[in-house]
Order: sequence, then C-alpha cells, then structure tokens
Amino acid sequence: MPAVRTGTTGAVISGWGTALPEKVITNDELAATMDTSDEWIRSRTGIEERRVGGTTIGLSVEAGRHALEMSGLDPKRIDALVLATTTPDKQWGSAAAVQHELGLSCGAFDVNAACSGFVYALVQAHGMVAVGADRVLVIGTDTLSRITDWSDRTTAPLFADGAGAVVIESVEGQGQLLGWDLDADGSLLSLLQAEIGGYIQMEGKEVYRRAVRIMVDSAEKSMAHAGVTSDDIKMIVPHQANIRIIQAACDRLGVPLERAAIVIQHTGNTSSASIPLALADALDTGRIDNGDLVLLVGFGGGMTAASCVLRWGGGVDA
Ligand code: ACO
Repeated sequence: MPAVRTGTTGAVISGWGTALPEKVITNDELAATMDTSDEWIRSRTGIEERRVGGTTIGLSVEAGRHALEMSGLDPKRIDALVLATTTPDKQWGSAAAVQHELGLSCGAFDVNAACSGFVYALVQAHGMVAVGADRVLVIGTDTLSRITDWSDRTTAPLFADGAGAVVIESVEGQGQLLGWDLDADGSLLSLLQAEIGGYIQMEGKEVYRRAVRIMVDSAEKSMAHAGVTSDDIKMIVPHQANIRIIQAACDRLGVPLERAAIVIQHTGNTSSASIPLALADALDTGRIDNGDLVLLVGFGGGMTAASCVLRWGGGVDA
C-alpha cells in the first residue's frame, strides 16, 4: 500500500472499457412471452433491446481488462480495485475474484449504492488517490437479469446486464474532478427494492417522479461545488433508466438532449454499469474532447443519488 501523501493530488481517467453479454433480447421477443409490445416499451422507456447473460465477475474482468489495456498499465501497478455492483455473484468476494483474474495485487472491495454505485465508487477512488494511491481501477457491473421476474411486464422490459470500467491515475494538482455530490434518502427505500434472494420490486410512477428531482438536485450541487453552470457542461452522462427521465432531467437542468450520452436503446437499465457504458460510448464516438466539462449523474435504489463534474483530459506521468 502506498504511503499517505500530503498536499493536493488529483487524478485523471487514463483508460476505459466495457463488456456486454452476447445474448440480445428485443422488445418483440419479450412481447412474444408476455402482454406487452415494442411500441409500449419504446415509447415509455426508450429501450429497444437489452443484453442478458454472464456473471458479475466475468463481465467485470472483461471490462476491466479493456480499461487496463487502454491505460497501458501493468496490472501489478494498480493500487486498488473498487467494484460497484448491486448484484454480486456471491455474498462477498466478487471484487477479490476480479482482482485475481486480472492479475492485480492490491486491495479489492465491492461498493453497493444501486444505480448510483459507479459514481460513488469513482468519487471514493479519487479519495484514495488523495491519500496515497496512484492508480485505481473502478468497475461498475450489474447482472440485473438474475433478480428480475421475467414474467412481470412492469419490470422485465427495463433491466439488463453489462459492465464498464475506468482506470484513474494520480496527477499533481487538482486533476479532473472539479465537484461531486453523494446523496441518499432511506425514507424512500420501499419505492425500489429487492429482498435478498428476491426480485426487483418497484413503484414505477413514484420512482419516476422522484428520480428526476433527485438527479437534478445532485447535479446542481456538483456544478455549484465545481463553480460551473449547466451552460458550461459539454456532455451529461446520466443513469440510463428511462429516456423520459433523462429528457426531463436535461430539461430542468437546461442541457439540450443532444448533449446527453445515451445508450439505453441498446442496453436497457444496467444499474452500476449504465454510466460507464454511456461514458465509454461518448468517448469512443469522439463526442468528448480534452478540456470539456462532463457531468455524470445517477440515481438508484435506496434511494441514492450521485453526481460529479469532470474536466476531461490532463496528462499522466509515466
Ligand atoms: N407493457 C404494456 N403495458 C404495461 C407494461 C408493459 N410492459 N407495464 C405496465 N403496463 C401498463 C400498466 O399495467 C398500466 O395499465 P393500466 O392503466 O391499465 O393500469 C399502464 O401500462 C400504465 O402503467 P404505468 O406504470 O402508469 O406506466 P408509466 O408511464 O409510469 O411507465 C415505467 C412505467 C416505464 C416503469 C415508468 O414509471 C418508469 O420508468 N419508472 C421509473 C423506473 C426506474 O427508473 N427505475 C429505476 C430503477 S434504478 C435501480 O436502482 C435498479
């Protein structure tokens, strides 16, 4: 473990990667098994298809490997692995299994903040850099299909599986993280929950109503901490739960939908993976340039919310 450092040390993302299961389930395929339709799902959620299958450990290893390859780092140089997931494969040890399979020799632990988990983990990773870590692998993975009741038309069309990962590396000075906010309101737990061993239960309309408000509140706090306004934001990367929630949050924040990263049409709601999947897509398609301000914002069961403002780019010393 690195020594505790004094002074300000920030971090920048130096690599990213994703993993999706091969199996695609289209809305029409779902409609063949339950009383729903492509038109209903598409118009109410924006989802056209979703990927289902794999394990949390397997998808995490694949996404993590891609992120490490892009960063060009020897896995042995990673100081910590943080795995955000709400669907670990076992009661404990998912992060440790990923650490082993990737050939890392560092601490590894899971973070569970439902769909806000990736941003929670990313902020936590920056905190570790501030006190001495130099390279942290952050992975967001969920296999929600395993806790979805595939006979329930009110939840089955929404949830799916996937993983996204980033490597952050220390830099002198502030680095990329300009402002962040982590929120939770446990009085809203009953709106969205899954008992251990049970399926996702959701009061969809109420979640919808609350989601927009808590996303916007969190995003505004992060922007205020960063000293920026929504006019400065080049790309918003929201949790991919429902295109109408994304649209409403963008409207309230005053960010045009064209400046949002959206992959929900192909991925569905992949919980902890949804923000890194959307971020990677925006990066891979050249929608984010060095110097751009990027706002990540999520909400999830708990209820939790999390957001942060990043200034993209910045060099990493070899
Ligand atoms: N196909 C056809 N009809 C359906 C379906 C379906 N798949 N699901 C529900 N319906 C019906 C309902 O039964 C209802 O019929 P009724 O009027 O005869 O009673 C009608 O459609 C309207 O249902 P609503 O629930 O009012 O539909 P709504 O417009 O609210 O959309 C939805 C439902 C998509 C679930 C929406 O409320 C939503 O997106 N909520 C937020 C979900 C969310 O973000 N979850 C986050 C999870 S994050 C995490 O932590 C895992």
